[in-house]
Amino acid sequence: MRAAALRARNAAFWEQAAPGWIEHADRQDEIGRPLGAAALDRLRPRPGERVLDVGCGCGGATAELARAVAPTGSAVGLDLAEAMVAAARARFAEPGLRFLAGDVETLDHVPGAPFDAVHSRMALMLFADPVAGLTTIRRSLRAGGRLAATVFRDGGVNPWLPAAMLGAAPSLGALPPLPLGDEPGPFAFADPARVTRLLTAAGFLDIEVDAHDVTLEAPDDPGAVAAWLIEIGPAGAAYRAAGTPARTAARAGAARLLERFRTAGAGYHLPSGCWLITATSPEPTRRQDSSQ
Ligand SMILES: C[S@@+](CC[C@H](N)C(=O)[O-])C[C@H]1O[C@@H](n2cnc3c(N)ncnc32)[C@H](O)[C@@H]1O
Repeated sequence: MRAAALRARNAAFWEQAAPGWIEHADRQDEIGRPLGAAALDRLRPRPGERVLDVGCGCGGATAELARAVAPTGSAVGLDLAEAMVAAARARFAEPGLRFLAGDVETLDHVPGAPFDAVHSRMALMLFADPVAGLTTIRRSLRAGGRLAATVFRDGGVNPWLPAAMLGAAPSLGALPPLPLGDEPGPFAFADPARVTRLLTAAGFLDIEVDAHDVTLEAPDDPGAVAAWLIEIGPAGAAYRAAGTPARTAARAGAARLLERFRTAGAGYHLPSGCWLITATSPEPTRRQDSSQ
């Protein structure tokens, strides 16, 4: 499938998914925080720095970045979905914090560039044209600027991820097209060699792709956990459009498949296998070196 078609599909997907992400933004930030914590740690944002959060969603990690670079630094959150950007603006008002709507793949550079550091939590693998998106990120960094991002590895180490969608689907209408192979989707960056190739093609140096495993802890509330995981996934739009009986059946179906991750009375333990990706933007002298 060509990049333009994939890009249109990506934009449509996130426009449809936005209401679910907005509805569950606090839950997502709290339970999903471990998915990005390693990138925040590795990035080590310092007071006074200018930082960018790519695919910021409803802005939770961007707000953390803004607090880390305060009082003189600034943080920009960029996301494709205008509704999520609007929600992020309504949720956070830290000094120096700004949210922008845009597709990182089609920008020459992100407004506010050059940045000292770029962060991204679970977004890079969703790019229709990853080299285009990563190149914009690299161009938006100052020379020697750093990137730290997390993405999912493969489905085998994230077994809970498709469970809500698969459990809910029989009670709902048609789902949007699901990604095949390395088309944009949760597991498109599963192959670390491909990740390294894409970052290299985008002009990054010092590329490291390290396995990073976390367990997400969700409360023992099967209905709420099922609704959250359905609504942030591919079945979210169909779920929101469905009537009460179908929604109830969808939650029950999702809860059944999620049961294996639940300890009654203690809650859900969702094992998540990620890559922690780090890289730097070349200094002019090193760029010269690498071309020799
Ligand atoms: C899985 S969500 C993660 C959101 C947020 N980082 C978080 O962890 O809560 C991925 C986000 O990336 C955004 N996204 C996908 N492709 C993008 C692109 N090409 N440019 C900007 N944002 C993009 C989506 O709109 C979505 O909000």
